[in-house]
Amino acid sequence: MLDRLPQRVQVYEVGPRDGLQNEPGFIPTEDKVRLVRALIDAGLPRVEITSFVNPRWIPALADADHVAAALEAYEGPAILTALVPNERGLDRALDHGMREVAVFMSASESHNQRNINKTRAETYDAFAPVFARCAAVGVAVRAYVSVVWGCPYEGEVAAAEVLEVTRRLIELGAYQISLGDTIGVGNPAQTRRILDAVLNEVPVERVALHMHDTRGAALANCLVGLEMGVTTFDASLGGLGGCPYAPGASGNLATEDLVNMLHGMGIETGVDLDRLVDAALLVEQLVGRPLTGRALKALVAARQTRRRSSE
Ligand code: HMG
Ligand code: MG
Repeated sequence: MLDRLPQRVQVYEVGPRDGLQNEPGFIPTEDKVRLVRALIDAGLPRVEITSFVNPRWIPALADADHVAAALEAYEGPAILTALVPNERGLDRALDHGMREVAVFMSASESHNQRNINKTRAETYDAFAPVFARCAAVGVAVRAYVSVVWGCPYEGEVAAAEVLEVTRRLIELGAYQISLGDTIGVGNPAQTRRILDAVLNEVPVERVALHMHDTRGAALANCLVGLEMGVTTFDASLGGLGGCPYAPGASGNLATEDLVNMLHGMGIETGVDLDRLVDAALLVEQLVGRPLTGRALKALVAARQTRRRSSE
């Protein structure tokens, strides 16, 4: 299988959104903007900069409008995007000239209710005008499907449920579906089964993987995706982003872990790993603790060894 790997992969950076949304302390707006700029400088092609959700639900990103305003004048090469749960969120994104947004919902009914306070049926109704307005003004819409590998309330989620949500979001106009292992419980055999089912209906270019590394299997799951032709993978700088259902465990797949593995396998990403490490060190400063990313630790140690041997 490993001879069929893609030559190039898109790393979709979610640190400023999925990472920071779980931070207990509030990171000042100018530091969030510095972080986004550091990620762009590191060559990330797409960066999710914030979330236009209800600030009472996600206080850590209550300054979404200010973050987006500070980056409004930015022009390429990276595409900046943000989470939008409804028309209110879209209004806020459009006010700041966002050219891409991402909607999100869950494969299971209970997680959807807890996360966005709607049934899945109500969610499609709330999304319909978001997609229609985005199509009218040429804004691209990505869609996340959460808890695909397992739900904290319902346990295993049937493939039929994942397919139904995926189908509806594609019909509404999502350019890409990001399948999320929200609580990081997936394993490679399961990933193969899920992708077999989804790729039976959806072209592989329209599928992304959003793996959380809570139990250490995120890279193994990505490898299965790579073998099956997936070329977009979500990741978060330094593994930033906890998992509320596994206190103390790491959250998102760390961007440096992913990029380090891909580059080692000869797969291009356009990301400068050294600059990515600089950006991760900046995050460590901002959050005031070491991050969980494993490649980060190894790359920082290698830097120190090089420095010492050149002294
Ligand atoms: P609701 O309370 O049902 O909303 O929340 P509502 O429509 O009834 O309105 C209630 C109040 O919220 C009103 O204000 C609205 O104006 C306000 P009031 O009149 O009471 O003063 N409101 C808003 N304010 C600002 N921006 C908005 C907005 N919408 C309503 N967009 C809602 C529904 C969806 C808004 C809420 O449930 C919410 O914000 N949820 C966010 C949950 C969230 O962000 N979760 C984390 C992201 S998902 C994730 O991390 C998974 C992912 O990474 C993939 C994976 O890992 O699987 C993507
Ligand atoms: Mg996530």
